Amino acid sequence: MCGIVGYIGKRNATPIIVEGIKRLEYRGYDSSGIAILDKNKQLKIFKKSGKITELERSLPSPDETYGNIGIAHTRWATHGEPTTVNAHPHTGCFGKIAVVHNGIIENHKILQKKLEAEGHKFISETDTEVLAHLIEHFLIKGNEFSLAVREALQLVEGTFGIAVINNEEPNKMIAARRGSPLILGIGKDEFFVTSDVAAIIIHTKRVIYLEDNEIVVINHKNFEITTLDNKYVEAKVSEVDWDVSSIDKGEYKHFMLKEIFEQPTSVGNAFRGRLMENLSTVRLGGLNMSGEELRSIKKIQIIACGTSWHAGLIGKYVIENTARIPVDVEYASEYRYRNPIISENTLVISISQSGETADTLAALREAKSKGARILGITNVVGSTIARETDGGVYIHAGTEIGVASTKAFTSQITILMMMGVLLGRVRNLPPTFGSSFIKELRLIPQKIQSILDKNDEIKKIAKTIKDSKNALYLGRGSNYPVALEGALKLKEISYIHAEGYPAAEMKHGPIALIDENMPVIAIAPDDAIYEKIISNLQEVKARNGRLIVIATEGDTSIKDICESVIYIPQTLHTLQPLLTVIPLQLLAYHVANLRGLDVDQPRNLAKSVTVE
Ligand code: AGP
Repeated sequence: MCGIVGYIGKRNATPIIVEGIKRLEYRGYDSSGIAILDKNKQLKIFKKSGKITELERSLPSPDETYGNIGIAHTRWATHGEPTTVNAHPHTGCFGKIAVVHNGIIENHKILQKKLEAEGHKFISETDTEVLAHLIEHFLIKGNEFSLAVREALQLVEGTFGIAVINNEEPNKMIAARRGSPLILGIGKDEFFVTSDVAAIIIHTKRVIYLEDNEIVVINHKNFEITTLDNKYVEAKVSEVDWDVSSIDKGEYKHFMLKEIFEQPTSVGNAFRGRLMENLSTVRLGGLNMSGEELRSIKKIQIIACGTSWHAGLIGKYVIENTARIPVDVEYASEYRYRNPIISENTLVISISQSGETADTLAALREAKSKGARILGITNVVGSTIARETDGGVYIHAGTEIGVASTKAFTSQITILMMMGVLLGRVRNLPPTFGSSFIKELRLIPQKIQSILDKNDEIKKIAKTIKDSKNALYLGRGSNYPVALEGALKLKEISYIHAEGYPAAEMKHGPIALIDENMPVIAIAPDDAIYEKIISNLQEVKARNGRLIVIATEGDTSIKDICESVIYIPQTLHTLQPLLTVIPLQLLAYHVANLRGLDVDQPRNLAKSVTVE
């Protein structure tokens, strides 16, 4: 996905929009650009491949980039390589307008052919450039600016979050959305548009979340929101409930490390106010479901992507154990095209940190179209997924900037574990389970902290595997999804190939990979299947595999078979993933850092994938 920022007001737009896209760089960072209308209302476009610092270095003097209206974009390439020519903003043949876009125009080839037949010349490989020529096409036909934008967007198939400026209407900025987030920020005699509140929160906390197929026309004094077919929309102003300090690295070298260390707090925020000791259960108000409706659920389908999918898999283990409800966990990208079977009393749960992941959004819309009740577990208030579900739970992890998800993951599984207790307690789960769960969950933040205190020890272990080419992560039960998550963390930020596997399954193939060069990171806490995983680890040891084991404090015998051990505190089996994942997050972080890689903005990745 990409990042968009626009400004219109009395101040110089350029520093505002450049600083804004820098705060969105986690959304995509392979090229960037700005367009401003200068003092003479001339349209000026500056763009550059590479990080935003490259763009900043390429900008001319502040005097030449001064303007009271401007738009900016940081790109995660979908169509066309991350070159300067393909960077946004894009313009048409006459250089009158500039467009920035987040999303995919699926019918861009057909539209381009038609426009080329009319004489339009294209210079980039992007789908977005079509928008610029299309708007220009309607302007040339004499349409007023906002009508030209409206007409153009009516022809578009696919998704967009756009901002447009026009040197023939130098006091107007237009923005519109379908499928990609777009937010209007309301300042004092100034307005902002952005893909993410993080870009503008230092200027205003008053925002309006545009809905799909809505367009906003903004001038220096006010704004008007309508649907694309020109029906009036009443503006709903929201107040952002967090501040800029939460999007600052502070003393940490990377956002990812800061977010790993925030987990005692973020997990605490996930359960705060939701534990009901007196009834040995939990309260998840946002579900909008009565006890009877909760009892009527016969099947659960969890849809998600990436780390959120791993969280869903842990949710399966917990909910099936506590509530005895069958749970399927589906990759959203597969689910959406598989004509899923939604039976009576099926509950669909969509899990998404950003609340904007295109595959997850499409999958929940497919489930909704089949009559399923949809819940969302999201982190971003007002996100599209949060707004399209019938109810849900915010995980309250705070803004997560690091592309590799960490604190959102532990907050997601905290919510899923609580959901397991809630669904169980309206069925046959005994109050004793609920009470011990609540009592132990309250201790988890400090137990996470005790693992974080081993950061230096874990960094030493990271040094021993930082030059590996491959790694294998093993776990059993609800620690199998933790093994998957640990492997994903390592590969997405250190670029070392890593696989997560159910420990016993290793015998059926991957054991062929084991040799003295293969680090095997195994999760072997003290639980009912401890002896089973130990025999799997013996099989690794017998083939000279290098064992790094996550074990429970006090388990000294494990040292006989492993090269390194990272101890975690004892906890309830249900809650174990909240602890076993922490060393894996730190291990991946240190390996990537030791390899000198960009931990917060790994190559090819983006924080939320709002395209298919
Ligand atoms: C997580 O480390 C990854 N960056 C990625 O897999 C992510 O979890 C996935 O894209 C889903 O994002 P979402 O939770 O915002 O929907």
